[in-house]
Amino acid sequence: MNETSPQTLPQTIYLKDYTPFGWSVTSVHLTFKLHPTETRVISRIAFAPNPDAPAQSFFLHGEALKLISSKIDGAPCTPTLTPTGLTLDVPTGPFVFECEVEISPETNTALEGLYMSNGMYCTQCEAEGFRKITYYPDRPDVMGTFTVRIEGDAPVMLSNGNKGALGAGFAEWHDPWPKPAYLFALVAGDLLNYSDRFKTRSGRDVELNIWVRKGDEDKCAFGMKALKASMTWDEDVYGREYDLDIFNIVAVDDFNMGAMENKGLNIFNSSCVLASPETSTDDNFERIEAIIAHEYFHNWTGNRITCRDWFQLCLKEGLTVYRDSQFTSDLRSAPVKRISDVIDLRGRQFREDGGPLAHPVRPESFVEINNFYTATVYEKGAEVIGMLKRLVGDDAYYKALDLYFTRHDGDAATIEDWLKVFEEVTGRNLKRFKRWYSSAGTPRLSVKEKFNNGRYTLTFKQETPPTPGQPHKKPRVIPIAVGLLGSNGHEVQPTTLLEMTKRQQSFSFEGLAEKPVPSILRDFSAPVVLEYERSNAERAFLLAHDTDPFNKWDAGQALRRASLIASVTTGAAPDTAFLDAATRVARDDSLDPAFRALVLQPVSQDDLAASLHAQGHTPDPQAIYDASETMAQSLAQHLADSLPRLYAATTVDGPFVPDAKGAGKRALNGRILSMLTRMDGGAQARAQFDTANNMTLQSAALNALLAQDIGADQSAAFFTQWQSDRLVMDKWFAAQVAFAAPEKAANVAQALTTHPLFTVKNPNRFRAVFGALAMNHAGFHHASGQGYALLADWLIKLDALNPQTTARMCTAFQTFSRYDASRQTSAKSALERILSTNGLSRDTTEMVTRILEG
Ligand code: TRP
Ligand code: ZN
Repeated sequence: MNETSPQTLPQTIYLKDYTPFGWSVTSVHLTFKLHPTETRVISRIAFAPNPDAPAQSFFLHGEALKLISSKIDGAPCTPTLTPTGLTLDVPTGPFVFECEVEISPETNTALEGLYMSNGMYCTQCEAEGFRKITYYPDRPDVMGTFTVRIEGDAPVMLSNGNKGALGAGFAEWHDPWPKPAYLFALVAGDLLNYSDRFKTRSGRDVELNIWVRKGDEDKCAFGMKALKASMTWDEDVYGREYDLDIFNIVAVDDFNMGAMENKGLNIFNSSCVLASPETSTDDNFERIEAIIAHEYFHNWTGNRITCRDWFQLCLKEGLTVYRDSQFTSDLRSAPVKRISDVIDLRGRQFREDGGPLAHPVRPESFVEINNFYTATVYEKGAEVIGMLKRLVGDDAYYKALDLYFTRHDGDAATIEDWLKVFEEVTGRNLKRFKRWYSSAGTPRLSVKEKFNNGRYTLTFKQETPPTPGQPHKKPRVIPIAVGLLGSNGHEVQPTTLLEMTKRQQSFSFEGLAEKPVPSILRDFSAPVVLEYERSNAERAFLLAHDTDPFNKWDAGQALRRASLIASVTTGAAPDTAFLDAATRVARDDSLDPAFRALVLQPVSQDDLAASLHAQGHTPDPQAIYDASETMAQSLAQHLADSLPRLYAATTVDGPFVPDAKGAGKRALNGRILSMLTRMDGGAQARAQFDTANNMTLQSAALNALLAQDIGADQSAAFFTQWQSDRLVMDKWFAAQVAFAAPEKAANVAQALTTHPLFTVKNPNRFRAVFGALAMNHAGFHHASGQGYALLADWLIKLDALNPQTTARMCTAFQTFSRYDASRQTSAKSALERILSTNGLSRDTTEMVTRILEG
């Protein structure tokens, strides 16, 4: 019943049309009488006229609600109902609106509003889910204090804020902090808690709980440790304390995204909180730690200071991603975190910025806001904050943040508010810098160098290709961190920050004895594509000598990329300059193992397709796959003599500890194992699989074997061992598709959809199969068109149940116009088939339309 509202033409919402709501909410009382298909929600909302708002009629959002009764100031009233809400004549002064509605959580497969997951009631309200719970001004700038009473027979019944009365069949909660409806949450079910306490630095004693289903209680310890570390870190680094008596986290199996920062009651996809050495990899542990921190940090950046409207989403998301990446850098390794973030940014955000879905960090219009929880808003939003911090310096950054927190506590704020605190603290004019928020697309930064009489000059030119709706781009402020190396490998100019503000600009360094080797865009100081054609000798020199870990790594990547592109375009053999350099790094025990693992990591095939496309080629996915395979095989051969020694040297003995040091060693060990598997027919990987006592080792062995198509026995054994663990089964589904050869990938995915454990209703399981298919570059883009057709079939099925996850997965198609005419035809017909589906959701309609229109 939740997604069958009549098909209306999607309406576009514009930032420029913002108007405040005509009333403020002074208090909200909600009573839930829980029932799987007939939950009653009784609300009592006190409204007062908002003197700052223009005159307007009284409208409350509401979708898929059955209105039972309503009253104004105690007298029955008769609102006018529409598919999106109600209108009503209201008194001129303050008044109380009451109503009772009925909803059906059990049949709510969209996982938005109040729904059920394995017999447990839970909610997801961001961005606009509260309107599926009751009639309300469901917009972030309307904030109220909520008192909630839950009636039902579940042993545990939770909502936001502090505990109120608790008795047989009911529980009450009161949240003293005014909040927008998107931060509302309710959970009820048969749950167990893993519990702890935290004392804030001003002495508040906080009860901490992670609530899970029976059987998962042994997977909470790591998350709890991460939570306490986050609370301490935010006190130490940003001076921010927690502000309630209790902080609850709940793990839910059916969840559209990673996690949600509801005030005092964070709800997590179980994959983003549950962890144990036997079932989780090092990558899982690191991700869980970061997501727990992210949601916790939202308490200040998102909840205490929220967004005026959804166009300001990056205000909370960009800043909170930036804060969680600082946290991970502090707890683990800063260079490794930076390199991993850039791999992710190039792989997801540059891909988005260069295609039909490109949009500014602060979009100016949308049809469905759920479609704007993107890599651009989150990750580029965080990069913009990183640039700001680089430009103003650490002291000014933290001063500006202090001012932001004191001035805007309790506000629903904007990007203008955010930039203003920086302008006031630094005296800078940030008008030009603000273009990072309004202009889409990734700037290309080209470089020319000149050396003359000891004077070395770098001339930069910036150019941003057109994006949908933005044909012409103005120049941006680009912070370019530069260092210079002498021919002996010593640094002759330590890192200095150049501030580029024009389309073309030169910077000089004086008094140099010889022409230096430049190290440009150190630490990836701006989210741009650096177009600097260097010789392979210079790249190898930087990989050997650069003092900046990011550029050292990036030089290796550039070498490998250049070699692969030459293989694809001219059939050249893998470049020995790269093979020699990578071999030296692999064998260099003085380097951090995590760094060596990153240097040995293959370049993503999708990134190669993007580079080829940018250079005017039509990328052939099969040729890219073949070149990548040849490269991997050559590297394994090149390193063959050292592999057994390196494998032994990177084996971590003793009990599994998910810290950065062990994880880095295991990451390198995994790289070595995959090379070894190419050379020894899988003997070492089979041995590792049989003796592994943790998931990092077990899945590394399985993946290495599957990649060589010799893992069938281990895959069957893995299934037998783990079939009753949902999260491990997701790994099993994903690995088979991810490591399938191009011509087999779609068939493997198709076959898995008939497996008894496959279900379209669980987003994690659906993503395990189809997310993996979309990421198998040569498999998804196979010339047969099978990958496109299969994904379209299943997106059509999923859309009828869960529009949000469907729309998100349509992004697999966003690069289709890079490829040849025949692939384009297959992709287009798959997309058109989706678009012509009867009753297609607004979410998916918007995404497919944008992808097709480019
Ligand atoms: N605000 C959440 C976060 O970034 C993400 C979020 C937005 C979300 N919409 C959601 C999570 C819908 C789950 C479902 O932390
Ligand atoms: Zn967030």
